[in-house]
Amino acid sequence: MTAHETIPTDRFAHLNLFVAGYGYHESSWKVSTVEHPGMLDLDHFVDIARIAERGVIDSLFFADSPGVAEFRPRFMAQSGFDPIDLLAALAPVTQHIGLAATASTTYSTPWDLARRFATLDHLSRGRAGWNIVTTGSPYAAANFPVQVHPDHADRYGIAEEFVEVVLKVWDAWEDDAVVASRTTGIWADATSLHAPHHRGEHFSVAGFLPIARSPQGHPVLAQAGSSPAGVALAGRFADLVFTPQSTMNDGITFRRRIRDIAAANGRSPDSIRTLPGLSFVLGSTEAEAEAAWQRLEAASSEEFRLLNLLHIAGVHADTTGEFDPDGPFPYHVFEKSTSTTFGAAVCAAARADGLTFRQAAARFATLPGGLHFTGTPEGLADLIESWWRAGGADGFTLQPLRLPADLTLFADHVVPILQHRGVVQGGYSPGTLRDKLQLPRPPSPYA
Ligand SMILES: Cc1cc2nc3c(=O)[nH]c(=O)nc-3n(C[C@H](O)[C@H](O)[C@H](O)COP(=O)(O)O)c2cc1C
Repeated sequence: MTAHETIPTDRFAHLNLFVAGYGYHESSWKVSTVEHPGMLDLDHFVDIARIAERGVIDSLFFADSPGVAEFRPRFMAQSGFDPIDLLAALAPVTQHIGLAATASTTYSTPWDLARRFATLDHLSRGRAGWNIVTTGSPYAAANFPVQVHPDHADRYGIAEEFVEVVLKVWDAWEDDAVVASRTTGIWADATSLHAPHHRGEHFSVAGFLPIARSPQGHPVLAQAGSSPAGVALAGRFADLVFTPQSTMNDGITFRRRIRDIAAANGRSPDSIRTLPGLSFVLGSTEAEAEAAWQRLEAASSEEFRLLNLLHIAGVHADTTGEFDPDGPFPYHVFEKSTSTTFGAAVCAAARADGLTFRQAAARFATLPGGLHFTGTPEGLADLIESWWRAGGADGFTLQPLRLPADLTLFADHVVPILQHRGVVQGGYSPGTLRDKLQLPRPPSPYA
């Protein structure tokens, strides 16, 4: 390992909690101790946020897709609150934890989104984060004026310009633009306001926001696409990168790519943090954890998995009737989707291990291609520490399979071990989410 890949010793591993309803497993709602409609009640998320703060976790994260595949609600609990609104509701009941949400660059407009995240950043006193995604699912298209889902390359082209515009909008007010002088009667110094006047290929945005620059300047930016186009976007803009990596070697290679591309964009490699997804189910013994995992798996539906494999790989028609799930793997069906990370991963695994469609569905449909752990708190702490020390990750995006059960076990049993070993912070440091993550506050370009 070169110095370039090591973790600076003055930093801790970051922990970002992916909050998915009753947990990240498709069957979590079937085994949950939380009674329906708990997940449709704010208190469920308040409980989760409080446990996460007890565990000194850096940020809460809500994923999002502004469209639902028609087959999914039959099988999976749906908890698709607007994530920015939900985070705004959690801001006053939490004190330290970062509040991050996905928002789509294909199915949003940049001025409006810039305003919503700036609002969250103000209301939370500098704890907002935006996970930039292009939205793989085409089900959103029919809900929006565009009607047709742009292809992968076009979505990333739109995303590049979208983020440029959002940054211009966030930067339109200089930090000291508000003078609020009762003597002169001037609220904001007009020379400190810089309307974006953006006219580009995809967006035209003229004016500034009706609020001052937010506490972080730019809310923390995350990016979750791991294709070459996703990596390129991350290299330009992202502070955090969420990614599915299933082996430590893959994690090391991917993190090196991310750091290299940040450097190629004139940024410090330390200014971008790779947080692979890590799903887990915990027990006080191996046997207890294994039993919990088996219970989740036994509650699964094979019909769901066959449909979901196509869905997550980016194949968006029910083609399951067109081939034998136990016959040769239907590469022709997946051909169109290999530009997505999951589609490529499914095809690669099918080729390498000679999988049938049914076998691939069993392997990928629940926890698509990322890192998974079933075991004891000690074992999970070992895994986190070993990846972090080896330069395979700057921390993790935690995907507990049962919420709040696995989060509670994590906060009360894994975190103390990691704190004792100096891997994660002992308590929250003061300041904004950027301050806490030791990410610089972007200066105003006009300062
Ligand atoms: C931890 C994690 C969280 C993600 N969250 C979202 C999300 O909220 N919405 C979404 O559409 N995609 C989400 N994705 C998927 C990616 O953003 C991306 O759409 C997908 O990987 C396909 O893009 P790619 O081909 O560039 O990898 C997530 C991925 C990871 C690893």
